[in-house]
Amino acid sequence: MLKKGDLYYPTKEFQKRAIISDPKIYQKALKDPIKFWEKLAKELFWFEKWKKAFEHQPPYFKWFLGGKINITTNIFEENKLGWKKIKNKPAIIWEPEPTGESSKILTYEELFKQVCKFANTLKSLGVKKGDTVGIYLPMIPEAIISMLACARIGAVHTVVFSAFSSQALKIRLQITEAKILITADGYYRRGKIINLKESADEAIKDTKVEKVIVVKRAGNQIPFDESRDFWYHQLIEKESDFCEAEKMDSEDLFFVLFTSGTTGVPKGCMHVCGGYTVQVYWTGKWIFDMHENDILWCTSDLGWITGHSYTCYSPLLNGITTLIFEGAPDWPTPDRWAQIIEKHKVTIFYTAPTAIRMFVKYGEEVIKNYKFETLRLLGSVGEPIDESTWLWYFKNVGKERCPIVDTWWQTETGGILITSLPGIGPFKPAHAGLPFPGIKIDILDEKGNSCKVGEKGNLVILPPFSPGMLRGTYKNPEKYKETYWSQYGDKIYFTSDGAFKDENGLIRIVGRVDDVIKVAGHRICTGELEAAVNLHEEITESAVVGVPDEIKGEVPMVFVVYKGKKRGEEVKNEVINLIRKQIGPIALPKEVYLVEDLPKTRSGKIMRRILKRLFTGEELGDLSTLANPESVENIKKVIGK
Ligand code: WTA
Repeated sequence: MLKKGDLYYPTKEFQKRAIISDPKIYQKALKDPIKFWEKLAKELFWFEKWKKAFEHQPPYFKWFLGGKINITTNIFEENKLGWKKIKNKPAIIWEPEPTGESSKILTYEELFKQVCKFANTLKSLGVKKGDTVGIYLPMIPEAIISMLACARIGAVHTVVFSAFSSQALKIRLQITEAKILITADGYYRRGKIINLKESADEAIKDTKVEKVIVVKRAGNQIPFDESRDFWYHQLIEKESDFCEAEKMDSEDLFFVLFTSGTTGVPKGCMHVCGGYTVQVYWTGKWIFDMHENDILWCTSDLGWITGHSYTCYSPLLNGITTLIFEGAPDWPTPDRWAQIIEKHKVTIFYTAPTAIRMFVKYGEEVIKNYKFETLRLLGSVGEPIDESTWLWYFKNVGKERCPIVDTWWQTETGGILITSLPGIGPFKPAHAGLPFPGIKIDILDEKGNSCKVGEKGNLVILPPFSPGMLRGTYKNPEKYKETYWSQYGDKIYFTSDGAFKDENGLIRIVGRVDDVIKVAGHRICTGELEAAVNLHEEITESAVVGVPDEIKGEVPMVFVVYKGKKRGEEVKNEVINLIRKQIGPIALPKEVYLVEDLPKTRSGKIMRRILKRLFTGEELGDLSTLANPESVENIKKVIGK
């Protein structure tokens, strides 16, 4: 039995079959990371080869300059496995939420035709290379088809998670000035139909959206404006099933994906065509050890970077099958996820610690009859996984046979940058592992010195970074410089994560050092929540902190200074509704506290750290430096501590 602190190595059998199993790859790659990535890039299909591999003009950098590529050509016509081999193979398995509804399979050939039809549709509606297209869809095949159709013609997709509120969608559409939005009538969630079209309609007011394409999914009643709305199925009918791929420059914008920003305005991470394709192809191949017949279930919604890279692009580039699921993993029964793994013979399962903690809570009893014989590799992503959850996953799902890749990365990095490779190991509970070959990282103290073994510091990425990393924040270059390139200068990428190395060099991620909290794996800025709460007319001030939660990892706690006359309960509900409206249900707080005053420094800065410590049990520290130390005593009474 594996214990905390133990190292686990892949079995001989796993190692023998693994795509990469020689640890020498690390030294080889680090000797010359640029050459290393060039070698990997050559394996893909380029219309024209790049003229220069890397260019660095801090804080900006470029990869494969002058190269011409299209990710969809690499997925379809020029797939490395060969078109003949993949043509009739399932590209997508779609599992709907209602258990009575059959799953759907799209082969590579069928998917290709659908993508081309929809690409031609977008063209007919006037979409050109470089235009942005909003995608607000549930987990249905059309979501992947839409992304690929944009990629085919060089349109820039901005996918917005379907559980985000209409306000959250609106601001993303406003920033990108998208003229087209692709959405659906509705979808199933825990047995109910969610009317997505209504949210979409609300969102497009005060935006530049001129046309809305609606996929018929749930068949629910929706408002339909004939002058602006189009049914997806009617549009594609008329179109040809072949569309020439646009030859994209390596550094052309591929997609913009927003992530929560401090002030309530989200940051659009810009990813480009060449480097992203190279990175997701290879990281997927090596980290998930993607073999021809693999069936990957990455449970992330397509609206997150994990969904972009490892539900959609990486498995398809590698010619394997990707599974997408419309519903929740524990609905209608707590073992729904286990049923899906067995039903579809999933071989690689990639999920977030929050989901695993939920499985743990339901208990081993629920899955005691599942053998998970098809599984051979497990993955974890999105937040730190603690030792006991790791061990539970290893024992009860992986049956002590499957390696676990604990993958560290960010929306900004585009692909995984730190993890153990499954054919090499070692895997150590709660440790992400080593940087991917060719990636140079360090852990620095506040002064910029490298930390010693076991010493906690800030995780940074050093030149030449990685081909798939962000090239900027959309229409906001200042934010790019300030967030990533100001802590240690413009040649060192600051991740905002705290980390340390163990004696084997394995990296353990401690968590964010900024105001980002991970709520059930979803990335939310406490500043964004505060901005939402402060819209309340009678709330003079607010502070939001993330506190530990058994299942969700962290949850937001909201403190508001309210001086009006309403009842406490009423104000709390108003706060909750504001958050629901501005962001969506994923950001709902665990508790809203009405307080007299918030602890502040003499210069007026709110001391969120103290509020957080009231929940974690840590020492509060010296309160005498506060301008209003008595506020802490009052808050203690309010929260009952
Ligand atoms: C956290 C998700 C610990 C980290 C792909 C990072 C992790 C943030 C891990 C990015 C991991 C991601 N272990 N923490 N394996 N993976 N994180 O942009 O704090 O949603 O900075 O991208 O998630 O979140 P994002």
